[in-house]
Amino acid sequence: MRKHLKPRTFKKLKGKVDLSSNTAGIKSPNPFWLASAPPANSGEQVMRAFDHGWGGAVWKTLGEDPAVVNVTSRYGAIDIGGMKMAGFNNVELITDRPLDVNLKEIAEVKKKYPKHAVIVSLMVPCERKNWHDIVKKAEDTGCDGLELNFGCPHGMSERGMGAAVGQVPEYIQKVVEYVKEVAKTPVLTKLTPNIADVRFPARAAMAGKTDGVSLINTINSVMGIDLDTLKPKFAIGGKGAHGGYCGPAVKPIALNMVSQIANDPETKNLPISGIGGVSDWRDATEFLLLGSSSVQVCTAVMHYGFRIVEDMISGLENWMREHEFETLDDFIGKSAGDIVEWKHLNLHHKTVAKIDSSTCIECDLCFIACNDTAHQCIVRPSDYGKTGKGWKIPTVIEEDCVGCNLCSLVCPVEECITMEDVETGHAPLTWEQYTAAGMTGYKEVYKRFHD
Ligand SMILES: Cc1cc2nc3c(=O)[nH]c(=O)nc-3n(C[C@H](O)[C@H](O)[C@H](O)COP(=O)(O)O)c2cc1C
Repeated sequence: MRKHLKPRTFKKLKGKVDLSSNTAGIKSPNPFWLASAPPANSGEQVMRAFDHGWGGAVWKTLGEDPAVVNVTSRYGAIDIGGMKMAGFNNVELITDRPLDVNLKEIAEVKKKYPKHAVIVSLMVPCERKNWHDIVKKAEDTGCDGLELNFGCPHGMSERGMGAAVGQVPEYIQKVVEYVKEVAKTPVLTKLTPNIADVRFPARAAMAGKTDGVSLINTINSVMGIDLDTLKPKFAIGGKGAHGGYCGPAVKPIALNMVSQIANDPETKNLPISGIGGVSDWRDATEFLLLGSSSVQVCTAVMHYGFRIVEDMISGLENWMREHEFETLDDFIGKSAGDIVEWKHLNLHHKTVAKIDSSTCIECDLCFIACNDTAHQCIVRPSDYGKTGKGWKIPTVIEEDCVGCNLCSLVCPVEECITMEDVETGHAPLTWEQYTAAGMTGYKEVYKRFHD
């Protein structure tokens, strides 16, 4: 029987598990929070989300009055294959509702849901007084924490806020310091991915004494050009502006940034709230394994509604039972250490592709990919002049296979091409060990690898 069809055993799925989460002192009944965005724009929405099971909500970012004016239209999306909204883009600003209305509703929500995490996202000009004022107003609601929005990549950044702060570590440190001078609740600094190396802004936030970081905010993006009108997709009176990209397509970028902060010796113990492309419990669990203690969700909620949290909760509970984890602390960060710098990878590790001829549909994709773009190590009987049934069934020349995975990635049949470890007989050798031993130059390592 093929591996993925094996029946799962549920014998371990009985024990009690505790999903309660604590991010930098912000406690919630589970690690699933609404991200600061349209789903968390009003008290009525947040209360309904909590009734569905969300453990926390980061309110749509508050600014100063008069509130901002938004444009229409605001959103664009990329559908990939059959997947709608695989990538989502917006040019929306922070909340366009009056400050006092938001503050009143935040206080009402907190009063009605004392055990849920209510975090207030903030963005005001980079002046000490402005930050002191907004922090006090926000905390007067009884909220559980603050999130500083240094990530919004459009509109607000042109006004010297959002990503304009998040891209300059010195500004980040300064504003976090302003906030920490008066804040009584934990402060999360929300980072922008629109930088070269996320460790620098994270270190700056830490230097300013942030209690934790949240990431990622959205990625600068242009959704495309309409080839009939020659105008940007989506256009506002014929003009487009770069917007913020999010949704399933950005998850790998977010996971990398979370792991970079979790593994950086300078920020190793900094609490993280992970954001970016979380659509289900599996995505969320990956963020937790890489060091996040909560996860925030925007696009998937905008796509499917608040109800998705019900599956997130039961999925995570079942997975924890299966792995015999009782609390989130049993596994938060457990996989972070396995994301290493390239120089720590074993040069002597070898895998080769194996093709299961009984499930091959002779589509030729693996052969073409390998032959045209990889290492020319797949052959078919037709290459030796054979014709008739099975003439395109591929075979791997194992000695030539470099284990790049491409054939298994393009193969449309699940588990038809698998990558299998091969014993090389060589002790592990990393690039770092190799250079430390004084063996410089590619020729030598190449020779040793192929010994
Ligand atoms: C329409 C829209 C509006 C957003 N508004 C805010 C905002 O006001 N403040 C903020 O910090 N992030 C805002 N975000 C960013 C999200 O909070 C989140 O960081 C980002 O969408 C990545 O998560 P996702 O992939 O689950 O959507 C917004 C995102 C979208 C799509």
